[in-house]
Amino acid sequence: MKKADLVIHGGRVVSPDSIIEASIAIRDGKILTVGTADAMPEATETFDATGLHVLPGAIDVHVHFRDPGYPTKEDWGTGTAGAAFGGVTTVFDMPNTLPTTATPDALAQKHTIASSRAHIDYGLYGFLGEDTIGNVQDMVEAGVIGFKLYMGETFGRLPSPSTGAMLEAFEVVAETGKRISLHAETASIMSRRESRMRDTGRCDPMAHIAARPAIVAVEAVSRAAALAEWTGARIHILHISSAEELRPLAEAKARGVDITGETCPHYLFLSTDDYRRVGGVIRINPPVREPRNQEPIWSALQSGLIDMIATDHSPHTPEQKTRNDIWTVDCGFPGVETQMPLMLTQVAQGRASICDYVRWSAANPAKHWGLYPRKGVIQAGADADLALVDLNRTMTIDDQALQTRSKITPWNGRTITGLPIHTIVRGRFVMRDRQLIADTAGWGRSVHSIQKMPPAKPRNTELTMRNIVKHVEARPT
Ligand code: NCD
Ligand code: ZN
Repeated sequence: MKKADLVIHGGRVVSPDSIIEASIAIRDGKILTVGTADAMPEATETFDATGLHVLPGAIDVHVHFRDPGYPTKEDWGTGTAGAAFGGVTTVFDMPNTLPTTATPDALAQKHTIASSRAHIDYGLYGFLGEDTIGNVQDMVEAGVIGFKLYMGETFGRLPSPSTGAMLEAFEVVAETGKRISLHAETASIMSRRESRMRDTGRCDPMAHIAARPAIVAVEAVSRAAALAEWTGARIHILHISSAEELRPLAEAKARGVDITGETCPHYLFLSTDDYRRVGGVIRINPPVREPRNQEPIWSALQSGLIDMIATDHSPHTPEQKTRNDIWTVDCGFPGVETQMPLMLTQVAQGRASICDYVRWSAANPAKHWGLYPRKGVIQAGADADLALVDLNRTMTIDDQALQTRSKITPWNGRTITGLPIHTIVRGRFVMRDRQLIADTAGWGRSVHSIQKMPPAKPRNTELTMRNIVKHVEARPT
């Protein structure tokens, strides 16, 4: 057998359905073989992973790295360093940067920046707005992983498109086979409630959730699912926060809609009970909700109704997070570095198995986004993207020690059990012994070129905007 670049011995290799003691041989960034130690080829370097579990690196399909546009909050260097410390080897970056990633030019600019600074692999979302539908085909050619549509206005003040524009956007994207990720909160409900509260002078942290009761998510998920069923567009529901929105999600799945869902650690482990302690820092969209939502969301993850864990890593500066008037506090907080330790803590407590975790964090995101089995699995032929974790290591999360530029989170002071110790991206250590390997900046690559979505399945194509317009124009006069 060919000589390997690296052989990792002694670890426990995890997949969604097995934990095996095995060695892993890596060559040219890919896994050559997984097997017993004596079956390994000669190697340039060997690495002893005794006592560690070897997981496929996490794939976080929802981060905001703010670059270009908001360098005081984050950039591709600091964001992907955080990912490396969090055992995350691929991220999908959101388009609410400056310029908005809505044109092929803006996308090309972001590709250039990311490829020069990223420590880990990435995909880039294209923005779907009222007036950007005409760019979809060019954006696909310029290399997007999927599209993002904000049904509710959020950071960046990007107006949410009308339902008419949404339908047309879904029609156009359906033909490409790409998935559309939705911020599923209905703008008009929220803005009306918020403006009434502001008029009466309410500006406490709980006013934020009062403006966005779960009905905003129920309405938005239901509407998006109806449009997806009609058009055949593939959709993904971002940051599921409420028990109630699980019903339209389940109904859509039962009807055969290609719909997936994610939740985030803050909806599982934080609640309205934390608003007083954490203050405005907890402000995020959708809001962290009442404790009664946690158990149904957790059960949905266990049952497979919710497909994956993502973070909505959305950093803002300490000044932007600590203003007194809640309406002026920027929404979001960092998460890419703390997701894995927080989830592994649940494994330590027996609430989930390490196999479940790998399914939620790596295998399922890879499958639903057309990256499997290149990513999301440890087997011959896959990219050698690995998180080597110590399931017994405890640590107290300290915001100041995080890699993100925005060192303020609701997790500060929380003790976790289970920590990534080394992170490997396509065969190369990007984090080793909890140290960043600085010269891996620029090692990250866009994964759009290896994405293989199933064939597109557009529906009602004779009724699309494009076809009705053509029909009218072609009518004899
Ligand atoms: C995100 C951000 O800051 O970009 N904020 C948030 O509260 N989640 C935007 C988003 O994902 O909605
Ligand atoms: Zn969002």
